Amino acid sequence: MADNKPMRLWGGRFEGGPSDALTRLSVSVQFDWRLAPYDLLASRAHARVLHRAGLLAQDELDRMLGALDDLDQACRNGEFRPTVADEDVHTALERGLLERLGTLGGKLRAGRSRNDQIATDLRLYLRDHVRTIVSRLVELETALIGQAEEHAETAAPGMTHLQHAQPVAFGHQLLAHAHALTRDVDRLRDWDRRAAVSPLGSGALAGSSLPLDPAAVAAELGFDSAAPNSMDAVADRDFAAEFLFCAAMIGVHISRLGEELVLWASQEFRWIEVDDAYSTGSSIMPQKKNPDVAELARGKSGRLIGSLMSLLTTLKGLPLTYNRDLQEDKEPVFDAVDTLLLVLPAVSGMVSTMRVNKAKLEASAPDGFALATDLAELLVRQGVPFREAHEAVGHLVVWCQVNDKDLGELTDEELAKVSPYFASGPDGSVRDVLNVQGALAARAARGGTAPDRVRDQIAALRETVDDQAAWANES
Ligand code: ARG
Repeated sequence: MADNKPMRLWGGRFEGGPSDALTRLSVSVQFDWRLAPYDLLASRAHARVLHRAGLLAQDELDRMLGALDDLDQACRNGEFRPTVADEDVHTALERGLLERLGTLGGKLRAGRSRNDQIATDLRLYLRDHVRTIVSRLVELETALIGQAEEHAETAAPGMTHLQHAQPVAFGHQLLAHAHALTRDVDRLRDWDRRAAVSPLGSGALAGSSLPLDPAAVAAELGFDSAAPNSMDAVADRDFAAEFLFCAAMIGVHISRLGEELVLWASQEFRWIEVDDAYSTGSSIMPQKKNPDVAELARGKSGRLIGSLMSLLTTLKGLPLTYNRDLQEDKEPVFDAVDTLLLVLPAVSGMVSTMRVNKAKLEASAPDGFALATDLAELLVRQGVPFREAHEAVGHLVVWCQVNDKDLGELTDEELAKVSPYFASGPDGSVRDVLNVQGALAARAARGGTAPDRVRDQIAALRETVDDQAAWANES
């Protein structure tokens, strides 16, 4: 930024200029400049409304719109830049307009305030970027679904407490992460309905005495309605806080996925191999291949949660209406947007390119006596109270541990020795339920891990994801 003469939108009633310390504290253009395209959109709508109100002649409107287009172009190609002397994005753009139009440029400020402008700009920015974020979430969902399709039948150890619990289809587990992300998209779409309210027309806090048309401005900017209360409109940052909650929740979801990917890639698990394109090495240990993408996904969730806390703390206790504290809303919001747009493509790439070690997964699926519940449920089907079945299988597990055997290795004689419940009868041996594929297929009710149910989920999720992609692209 070049060093120019200070540009301020106020000062008429001041005799002395602001101190350097105040100026440095006050300036926000270094971070709010990214709102310039949205501020210009709102300015075009405002110019039209001033014209319809009889406050801008037709030729003035034409010149105003021409100058706004020219300024927009100059901002985009970098010909027009904010200077350190511009207090904020609104100030810089008014300077650009005055440079192009002379005194006519000063007419645009009628009937609006930076208070309703900034609230509008941030909503426009977020509604636009939320669609991009949804597109990136759709890519991650698609990556997870693609891997799940490959592994709808691959048995894996399912865990609770990070201990082997029951076998699951690996695809089932991958889809669990995809479902969480579809809820995140739902939340953002629902957020968008509430964010689709235009603050423009609220002025500083009380509305305007000029015959403006807030509803027309709202419609032109793609909002569903104009705010019904000007004081609420300039003071409300719910939309920013709620967006930050959505972002933090996404952060938590990709962090949990990231943690699993880190575990899966470890020597101890060896469930996946991360593609070279998504791995890093060590500067000292030549053999290392690290899952940094997953670790950064986990790490970045910290700043997403922090941004939410930061804004909530700023808002807490603010009296109505606008207070300068509200300038602190933007950096957390921008950081959350940047963070998500940075991390989501990397995680999608890591998931879609990882190689799943099917043999390792299937070999370890029954480990840790993971079929014990199946055995107990077999006894229940034969009329044994679950309490007794649980106890009998518990004894069998201890017997196996003492004798260093797996459930699947037991002979009929050994089974009968532990409990008469396990003696083979006319319906065959209890050993028949001790197979992993049978255990998966048996969990065939809605929500269960049976490969058929996994394929049902994939079909339903593909429809959901298509609908989400269409929303992001079209609305
Ligand atoms: N830079 C300010 C913000 O981000 C714009 C609104 C300033 N309004 C005011 N009355 N000083 O909130």
